[in-house]
Amino acid sequence: MTPDENVRDILPLNEWLRGRHALTGDAPEWDLDALPPEPTSLFTEWMLRADADRVPEPHTATLATVDANGVPDARTLILKGIDDGRWAFASTRSSRKGSQLAQVSAAALNFWWQPQVRAVRVRGRVEEATTEESAADLAARSPAAQQGIEPGDWVRWRIVPSRIEFWQGSRDRRHTRVVYVPDGEGWAYSILGDAG
Ligand SMILES: Cc1cc2nc3c(=O)[nH]c(=O)nc-3n(C[C@H](O)[C@H](O)[C@H](O)COP(=O)(O)O)c2cc1C
Repeated sequence: MTPDENVRDILPLNEWLRGRHALTGDAPEWDLDALPPEPTSLFTEWMLRADADRVPEPHTATLATVDANGVPDARTLILKGIDDGRWAFASTRSSRKGSQLAQVSAAALNFWWQPQVRAVRVRGRVEEATTEESAADLAARSPAAQQGIEPGDWVRWRIVPSRIEFWQGSRDRRHTRVVYVPDGEGWAYSILGDAG
């Protein structure tokens, strides 16, 4: 193979994929006897740990939505904040996701952080922030990022979580999942194995 030959032209993709490894990082210590009673602080701890360990852009995530026919869609975006326990993101109402959220007001967010071998899944119904909050969100963007957005088109949405899963992989494939679900005024959590 000469240096300028593209390896993808030589190896079929499926063969290349068979040789790939995943979950190659080293997970931090995770004390399952010291889990917080609610998920926000654990999420914050994991996010800050990912940042401290130089995960590039740990605040980016995949947002999944669904249309009225039940057809799913997904795209990358950034987490704008956790507003009183609700995971916030922002976009235009005129976008595909905006249209899908108008049809079905539910979504899921998925984060994946390496080399911590950690993933977080958040799902639930979606609510819209107030007009003032959405306007403030837009105003906080750089002038360049505000260009071309019609007044009133920018929306800050929030997922009200009905389930949050913290997943940490292990080299021996004995992965750990901790799932938080709302329980009355607070939260209940359970620890699950995962041999995936
Ligand atoms: C790293 C990254 C961050 C992004 N952040 C946002 C965001 O915060 N809001 C947004 O509307 N689009 C964001 N995008 C663009 C979206 O992925 C997507 O292309 C766009 O929102 C249109 O999606 P839709 O057609 O499903 O509505 C981001 C893309 C990348 C790669």
